[in-house]
Amino acid sequence: MSVPRIQLNPATVMAPVPVVLVSCRGPEGSEYAKPNLITLAWAGIVCSEPPMVSISVRKSRYSHRQIQESGEFVINLVNEKLLRQTDFCGVKSGRDIDKFAACHLTACPAAAMLHAPAVAESPLSLSCQVRQVLELGSHDCFIGEIVAVEAAADLMDEKNKLCLDRAGLVAYCHGDYRSLGSILGFFGYSVAGDEVLARRMPKKAARRSPAKGKKSD
Ligand SMILES: Cc1cc2nc3c(=O)[nH]c(=O)nc-3n(C[C@H](O)[C@H](O)[C@H](O)COP(=O)(O)O)c2cc1C
Repeated sequence: MSVPRIQLNPATVMAPVPVVLVSCRGPEGSEYAKPNLITLAWAGIVCSEPPMVSISVRKSRYSHRQIQESGEFVINLVNEKLLRQTDFCGVKSGRDIDKFAACHLTACPAAAMLHAPAVAESPLSLSCQVRQVLELGSHDCFIGEIVAVEAAADLMDEKNKLCLDRAGLVAYCHGDYRSLGSILGFFGYSVAGDEVLARRMPKKAARRSPAKGKKSD
């Protein structure tokens, strides 16, 4: 049964969203040529082929200038171990401090990047080249093509498949950081056959047939 709905002011109340740690560096020789980190929640996937992402960064951020000048950034996924440093990188500016040093994080070379480093402690890093910049208002949206991906080796299974469920990733929900709960379903589970359900969600498959939306017992 639906409940009465009320109208709110237009605002960015979309949740949950990812929270990521973006690493960047201005080009060699420029005054922005030091490794830096910025925490972002306004980030997302925007295209599959070519693989592209967006990050929205206020012009006032130190990292904005670094990304604009270098044309590169690295999106580092955030797990529970990295959360405290991630929050810190979202309240301190690289203009004032070296966030890698302050957070005891390692800036390592990122695949396919000339300038931007990756965070060695992150479970997965996406190296991105800026393809477009959209000046939207408060934020500039950098559209980046993912040109390389690097993952922690312990996230790969024996068949060399990436198991991101092992990474302990974190989501951002209306001002709070949240761990991810149990698996509720998977892409296409509502129409999957019994054999697939039994393999992917053995506990649920035993109780229910989601394809039919009915309990099987
Ligand atoms: C959870 C969280 C999410 C944030 N998301 C964004 C964002 O999407 N875009 C942005 O410009 N700033 C965002 N910020 C703020 C920047 O991370 C913050 O201003 C940072 O200190 C900028 O660092 P910089 O000056 O070294 O670039 C976020 C901060 C936090 C804590």
